[in-house]
Amino acid sequence: MSVTVSRKAHFNAAHRLYRPDWDDAANEEVFGKCANPYYHGHNYDLIVHVTGTIDPTTGYVVDMKVLKDLIKSEIEDAFDHKNLNEQVPEFKNLIPTAENIVVVIWDKLRPHIDSDKKLAVTLYETPRNYVHYEG
Ligand code: NI
Repeated sequence: MSVTVSRKAHFNAAHRLYRPDWDDAANEEVFGKCANPYYHGHNYDLIVHVTGTIDPTTGYVVDMKVLKDLIKSEIEDAFDHKNLNEQVPEFKNLIPTAENIVVVIWDKLRPHIDSDKKLAVTLYETPRNYVHYEG
């Protein structure tokens, strides 16, 4: 029997979607407003899902406090109020689309979650646009 435990979190960040090897017109053609050279921000909402069996000793799949602190140290502290392109090393050579951000988040969290548990991450870039990654 497995149960999924989920924790919501939030960060604000700026980004710009562009390829440096393309000119401004080509970037605007593909990325539209998100290619704005002056950057723009999003209020990202994040849901981290951990699935596993219930520990009979604690009754937990995962300690929510531990999960909360992990999301804070690995994701919020690294991304919140940052310019993703300029200040987050993972995006130095990676376009910070929602798709790439959710994979980076998953990769940062995975080593800290017990290997017998499944990790999934849902990332909302806007209330209507979201991505989901399970590894
Ligand atoms: Ni954007």
